Amino acid sequence: SPCAPGKFDEELIKTAKHIASPGKGILAMDESNATCGKRLDSIGVGNTEENRRTYRELLLTAPGLGNYISGAILFEETLYQKASNGKSFVDVMRSTGIAPGIKVDKGLVPCGTATTSWCTGLDGLAGAAEYYKQGARFAKWRSTVAVGAGPSIIHARHAYGLARYAAICQDNGLVPIVKPEILLDGDHTIDETLDVAKATWAETFKYMADNKVMFEGILLKPSMVTPGAECKVRADPQTVASYTLGLSQPRAPPVPGIMFLSGGQSELEASLNLNAMNQSPNPWHVSFSYARALQNTVLKTWKGEPGNVKAAQEALIVRAAANSAAQMGKYDP
Ligand code: 13P
Repeated sequence: SPCAPGKFDEELIKTAKHIASPGKGILAMDESNATCGKRLDSIGVGNTEENRRTYRELLLTAPGLGNYISGAILFEETLYQKASNGKSFVDVMRSTGIAPGIKVDKGLVPCGTATTSWCTGLDGLAGAAEYYKQGARFAKWRSTVAVGAGPSIIHARHAYGLARYAAICQDNGLVPIVKPEILLDGDHTIDETLDVAKATWAETFKYMADNKVMFEGILLKPSMVTPGAECKVRADPQTVASYTLGLSQPRAPPVPGIMFLSGGQSELEASLNLNAMNQSPNPWHVSFSYARALQNTVLKTWKGEPGNVKAAQEALIVRAAANSAAQMGKYDP
């Protein structure tokens, strides 16, 4: 039975280790149709299935992408689409060593308060087996905690959802990206972020252990510990690195990789902060799983014009290479 415990253990460990290879990270390109529509709208491109496919083809066929990117997270639609040469995107990715990932949550709904989100989609996770058949080897699920969200019961619900999702993914051969995400929105200080992150992480690992999640077969995707986006007191990369590693050190088990999200940081900030974390010794593969911090310049360069595809792909490679260097603590802008 696909639910037999341990059936996929070896493969899960292999997939997670591959994604966490030295100098490599994840390209998050799993924007839902609504979010992708917002991105396309910002460059005056209509939100049609063909335009989304064309944009994703630009990303996945950027020459040299596989030198820096070991996995890419897709929205369901993309998992079933083909490049214009007729090859499926899954095959395009496999030919360059990029593991296909899939977003399996179905969007956020408020959880107890208006500021913490519970994610829908757990009931539909039986579909994980189908994604595996289609070529997906890892998964992402997004739920979020806001600073100031209130009592710890909120963090516990968030953690329970993450843990159930992780266990179901592993039963179906997908490495779950576990994402305790603290939102950047707000004027909270870096210390307030740290307090909420501590509580959230403690609950997350407790529920994962209760649900018998195999830690060697997951990847973490947390937010970095930073001040809120509107906080007047900013933090330099060394401060972000020491808070973030200080959070992880006593809490994170030896998972194969911690792949941070960019969460609204600028492209440069996201690379500098990652670099700073890798300049001090740490026991993990500390890397990136960025969407906006890899794609912002790409979109602005492309503008939907076929003549700009090459320049847009080069822009993607510039960011991918920068973050690859930052993974090794060798980024020098
Ligand atoms: P950002 O890097 O843009 O935060 O996106 C990562 C992600 O997967 C958010 O769900």
